[in-house]
Amino acid sequence: MAGRTHYIAEISEQNIGQRVTVAGWVHRRRDHGGLIFIDLRDRSGLLQIVAEPGQTDVFETLARVRGEYVMRVHGVVGPRPSGMANPELASGSIEIRPQAVEILAESKTPPFMPSEAEAVDELVRLKYRYLDLRRPGLLGHFLLRDRVLHAVRRFFHDHGFLDVETPALARSTPEGARDFLVPSRVQAGRFYALPQSPQIFKQLLMVAGFDRYYQIAKVFRDEDLRADRQPEFTQIDVEMSFMDRDQILDLMEAMLHQVFQEALGTTLEPFVRMSWRDAMRLYGSDKPDLRAGEPLCDLTQAARTVAWEVLATAPAVAGVLVRQLAPSRRQLDGWVAQARQLGAPGLLWIVREARETRSSGHKLLGAQGVERLADAAGLLDGDTLLVAAGEDPAAFRLAGQLRLEIARQLDRVMPGFKFLWVTDFPLFEWSDEEGRLVSAHHPFTMPHADDLAILEDSPLEVRSEAYDVVLNGSELASGSLRIYQPELQSRIFSVLGLSAEEIDAKFGFLLQAFQYGAPPHGGIAFGLDRLVMLMAGAKSLRDVIAFPKTARGTDPLTDAPSLVDRRQLSELHLGVTQ
Ligand code: AMO
Repeated sequence: MAGRTHYIAEISEQNIGQRVTVAGWVHRRRDHGGLIFIDLRDRSGLLQIVAEPGQTDVFETLARVRGEYVMRVHGVVGPRPSGMANPELASGSIEIRPQAVEILAESKTPPFMPSEAEAVDELVRLKYRYLDLRRPGLLGHFLLRDRVLHAVRRFFHDHGFLDVETPALARSTPEGARDFLVPSRVQAGRFYALPQSPQIFKQLLMVAGFDRYYQIAKVFRDEDLRADRQPEFTQIDVEMSFMDRDQILDLMEAMLHQVFQEALGTTLEPFVRMSWRDAMRLYGSDKPDLRAGEPLCDLTQAARTVAWEVLATAPAVAGVLVRQLAPSRRQLDGWVAQARQLGAPGLLWIVREARETRSSGHKLLGAQGVERLADAAGLLDGDTLLVAAGEDPAAFRLAGQLRLEIARQLDRVMPGFKFLWVTDFPLFEWSDEEGRLVSAHHPFTMPHADDLAILEDSPLEVRSEAYDVVLNGSELASGSLRIYQPELQSRIFSVLGLSAEEIDAKFGFLLQAFQYGAPPHGGIAFGLDRLVMLMAGAKSLRDVIAFPKTARGTDPLTDAPSLVDRRQLSELHLGVTQ
């Protein structure tokens, strides 16, 4: 007996009466009514093996096996006795009557059984990741990831994109996070940086005339980790020449349509396109979740005429609509408390009912003021309006958060995939931390042609040719048209406060390249891990990365990062100070 004839999932009622050889892990063993039942598991599924005491050899071997032993079983496919079928298993109506069995490897009692892993502490699961990965649910994410990658590669290949690898030992790239540094042994005191993205290299490939580039690129960022952030992750990185913005958006959207069709069998709707300004006004967020009900109402103008000065003079007044609910007083108080927790000084509520309008604002605004706001928001009988006033865009941001939280609480987030493009992001933003202007995307992003005249005088007003793909409230991809004129690139660096020496030291090679004929170009990078996480309905990136890091950046399985011996350090001209 050698090899195998079938994956488990390939065996069905059609094989009844045939001899097959299967191999896999013992998912469960039960002794019942003198028979031994084994659920054998391979990558494709589970299959029941049933042995009777009459088959001495086989029965004795199977009596020895325990959970997670590795076995090969040769036998005949038979129907399960009537009434014994398991409708939850694909192979639930058949079983194997073994003629020969072989234990290929024993297993110690595992710290947890794959079937019970979900209840186990995550640190333990990460330490025994190879056991956790035996969980069919988790394995399913990697089968999906593989289908996604296959579809992505096919799309780009079919559209004339070249798959080009860029260096992992590189110079620091300006994506805004901290670099992971690699000391050079040969060049004392010098360091490579692991790439935060292949940004500069892909632009250089455009200067080289490669025209269309893509890469499934591993990138590294030393930043604070969250459920949707890992220190190393994978980008679907793309750059193309001679295309305008809408051509780029159309092509990248077509890519996602094809990937969802091929990997999930899902047909996507055309993506909504919205400017950053509209996204902030309508959803209080640059990554709106379109599944969470109607947009916000801008009540700033309507509030100008109400009697209460706080509202009438507020730079921004934003309303959250909750349709057809008739909330209790407790529920309303809960939302007010939530708004305070999010930083609002207060929150007004208005509930329109057939006979009267209830509101926490009657005293302050008068009945007329309340009605005016309710009308401006289009409030119908049975609807509730929550009103937040404050700075612009803070009031919209807060209302946007509240809109999301309430939709979640009321279980009103629609299922499915809601995509949109957010375009025309600001070129710069103010960093409180650094006390200076920083690029909102990165410094190679093209400013809007109409805003070039105010670049130096009102930089925060300047719009850019940057765009994001947002899926269900998560940023899935970011990209932009790039600057390809060296003079404009130098101007941007100066607005960012870089001195001529700094520009030369950091980006001299790029500006030089642009002097030798740079084509107009633009591109984008998708977070592959995020894409698969959202497609799989997983909660954390850790569920779609085979060997992920913990929130503290460690790998409990290999115990990385680890100490290294002194000799290694001294070869690298390093010493540890603590
Ligand atoms: P950006 O920095 O926006 O753009 O990254 C692109 C996409 O990568 C994903 N992403 C992450 N995924 C997991 N863990 C992280 N720590 C993490 N950080 C980012 C997100 C994000 O949208 N060079 C530019 C792209 C370009 O202009 O072409 C860039 O890297 O899904």
